Amino acid sequence: MSNDTTLVLGATGKTGRRVAARLRLAGTQVRAASRSSRARFDWSDPNGWEQVLHDIGTVYVVPPSVPGPVHEFVARAEDAGVRRLVLLSGRGADTWGDSPFGLDMRSAEDAVRGSALEWTVLRASNFDQNFDEDLFHAPLVAGELALPAGSVPEPFVDLEDVADVAAAVLTEPGRHAGRTYELTGPRGVTFAEAVDLIARAADLPVTYRQVSPAAYRAALVEAGLGEDDAHHVAEMFVLMERGLLAGPTGDVETVLGRPPRAFEEYVVRAAAAGAWRS
Ligand SMILES: NC(=O)c1ccc[n+]([C@@H]2O[C@H](COP(=O)([O-])OP(=O)(O)OC[C@H]3O[C@@H](n4cnc5c(N)ncnc54)[C@H](OP(=O)(O)O)[C@@H]3O)[C@@H](O)[C@H]2O)c1
Repeated sequence: MSNDTTLVLGATGKTGRRVAARLRLAGTQVRAASRSSRARFDWSDPNGWEQVLHDIGTVYVVPPSVPGPVHEFVARAEDAGVRRLVLLSGRGADTWGDSPFGLDMRSAEDAVRGSALEWTVLRASNFDQNFDEDLFHAPLVAGELALPAGSVPEPFVDLEDVADVAAAVLTEPGRHAGRTYELTGPRGVTFAEAVDLIARAADLPVTYRQVSPAAYRAALVEAGLGEDDAHHVAEMFVLMERGLLAGPTGDVETVLGRPPRAFEEYVVRAAAAGAWRS
């Protein structure tokens, strides 16, 4: 029995679907799994994990949104004969201290680092695609992005680069063992500048407005997020405000041998694809 197949978790999500497509194109056998995928995987239902882990050599792990389950998953992966784990996490996870932000990712990191398997952690900055595929999209199209983001820049990273790095790491056994890569774009961009670039490229009448963390939390709850989730998202901005995560790193280039894509390149691509057409 061979176990050359790579299990991609979160396979319908922003990184998973990009990673799976790259691996398939390169000729790697992929088992794409999530709650709505043909290979069904649910973080809250460990009974189904054995089947999904059968004959798997490598796993791309998109962690669950709660701390805990990755520990049990890693134990099951070890038992199933998995050799390597590549975990998606967040930039500077070791600098978040007492913040309630990112306990899910920190727990997943602990589980992966503590395993007997070969592991690599990919810690990404805020994705460029949060502006068209996630949280910031609806406010942009509605005409105003209001955040407690301050003037500290964020080195947004393009998901195409995150997926390029993940695909490289997943297909280069040994080379990235025990490494933690901090994946960023080439420069820091403030949220006000990001909104201005999008407004110009998409010809979108949208502005950026600075609000307090409390006002932002309240707006998220009004938009339908739970109190806890709203608190955690707002806490991310408190961490960013400290400025420790504002500068770019060279880690995309370390893995890929080329610099990361510019934020402007993403904006032009998404605007041309009609991402912000109202
Ligand atoms: N957004 C950012 O800027 C950023 C930056 C750094 C790190 N991160 C981290 O990236 C991770 C999210 O990755 P992503 O953006 O690629 O994913 P995503 O777009 O948020 O999609 C989530 C994926 O997980 C699956 N999923 C959701 N609940 C599940 C469950 N209970 N069991 C199994 N699968 C489940 C979903 O598919 P189904 O619905 O089919 O199950 C989907 O494929 C989070 O840990 C986040 O903290 C995000």
